[in-house]
Amino acid sequence: MEKSKAQTTRRIRDQLALGLYDADSVPTARAALSERVGTFQDSLRAPIHRWFKYPAGFSYKFVETLIEDYRLDARHWILDPFVGCGTTAVVAKERGVNCVGIEAHPFVFQVARVKTFWEFDLGALYQRIESLLMVLHKTLSRDVSQDVSEFPELIHKCYSRRNLARLKIIRDTIESFDGSAVERDFFRLALTDTLRTASRAGTGWPYIAPSRYHAKQNERDGLAVFDEQIRLMFDDLKIVRSRQRGNAETKLLQMDARQVYPLEEASVDLAVTSPPYLNNYDYADRTRLEMYFWGWAKSWGEITEKVRDKLIIAATTQIRRNDFSDDPVNADLGELDARVYDELRARVHRLGRLRLEKGGKKSYDLMVAGYFNDVSQVMRQVYRVLKPQSRFVLILGDSAPYGVHIPTEEYLGKLGVGIGFRRYEIQQLRTRGEKWNHNPQRHQVALRESILILEK
Ligand SMILES: C[S@@+](CC[C@H](N)C(=O)[O-])C[C@H]1O[C@@H](n2cnc3c(N)ncnc32)[C@H](O)[C@@H]1O
Repeated sequence: MEKSKAQTTRRIRDQLALGLYDADSVPTARAALSERVGTFQDSLRAPIHRWFKYPAGFSYKFVETLIEDYRLDARHWILDPFVGCGTTAVVAKERGVNCVGIEAHPFVFQVARVKTFWEFDLGALYQRIESLLMVLHKTLSRDVSQDVSEFPELIHKCYSRRNLARLKIIRDTIESFDGSAVERDFFRLALTDTLRTASRAGTGWPYIAPSRYHAKQNERDGLAVFDEQIRLMFDDLKIVRSRQRGNAETKLLQMDARQVYPLEEASVDLAVTSPPYLNNYDYADRTRLEMYFWGWAKSWGEITEKVRDKLIIAATTQIRRNDFSDDPVNADLGELDARVYDELRARVHRLGRLRLEKGGKKSYDLMVAGYFNDVSQVMRQVYRVLKPQSRFVLILGDSAPYGVHIPTEEYLGKLGVGIGFRRYEIQQLRTRGEKWNHNPQRHQVALRESILILEK
């Protein structure tokens, strides 16, 4: 951590742009890497990362770049306060760096837990997988009648009755199969990731709403997909175990990142994260298919209680207007940066007025206010546990609800300085949102994705 800040940030930008960690990088591929940093594209093909396709995830290569740049090793700790399905924790573990990951979404947290447990007896695990698959292939070699009425309608729209019955049998067999808790969790994750691949609905992201997507022509047999997935996961374990450096510690905490972390003050060498963007993306909805299938929830209301209400505000579906006062931007943001506070309040009030003119009456005003109230609380917590001169690196998108531009990275940078960070720097990665440009309802503001680096 001894390098000067300017040198380091220049290197991060250059390396992302140059794709130095891309084994087969060629000039055209280089520019493409910084385009992909904030997306899950790279991770979809990488061992372990590909165990769960999380569209909100970022590129594992970004975390690798930071670990190289800051020369982190077994003596250091990385913190990711929005660890999601564990990208940061998986890279840190492979590279031999200790990591604390925080995640409030219970289902996504569980995915991260499974992805960061590699300490299996591989021979024994192999045997367990083979015997599970043998039982399943035998049971499902003929059609079996199965009551599937327990599943909510959404699930029925995603599968033929026969395929759903087979998926249910796989689920129930896993649940009753002898074995350790970690093996069962491993099997469960293989089935979780099977669900979207096997589905006939175009279960494209971000939302699982089969009626709104074209049906895929090729529903795939649940058992065939599960068989492929569990073997791929087993092979991935072998790959990462052979590459793993040292025995770093990974601590995953299922908690709200706005709360005080059970970590010593000034104990973390680098914080890196991608917080929810201010783009009306509902993380709770993203896992509706999976949570319904596993019986974690049966309705929107249950998902709100178990997930939506636990997350920082980043979508209008999280807003209950009665929970907010007439002046929804917290006054303490004014103490952090008076100009940002005034601008935010002005934009929030403008969104409040626009809302009344628009058909959908979306609560973008409260979404924006809630977002900055919440993210600034997380920044305070991260500041407390970071060592002096260490960095908090965030991948962020700006936003323009109803066409009102909110420069998220700049506002958070300034609020960070109010919290105590010595300075901040913004590196633009790419412009985004172009795919919606044909939509006449959409604003014409060019949106960005950026890296915000705060230095304590
Ligand atoms: C952009 S995603 C991070 C994805 C992560 N980089 C990955 O690769 O999987 C943001 C995450 O923040 C989580 N989150 C939202 N509010 C939270 C809170 N209050 N505390 C902790 N995590 C939260 C969401 O559930 C989501 O998984």
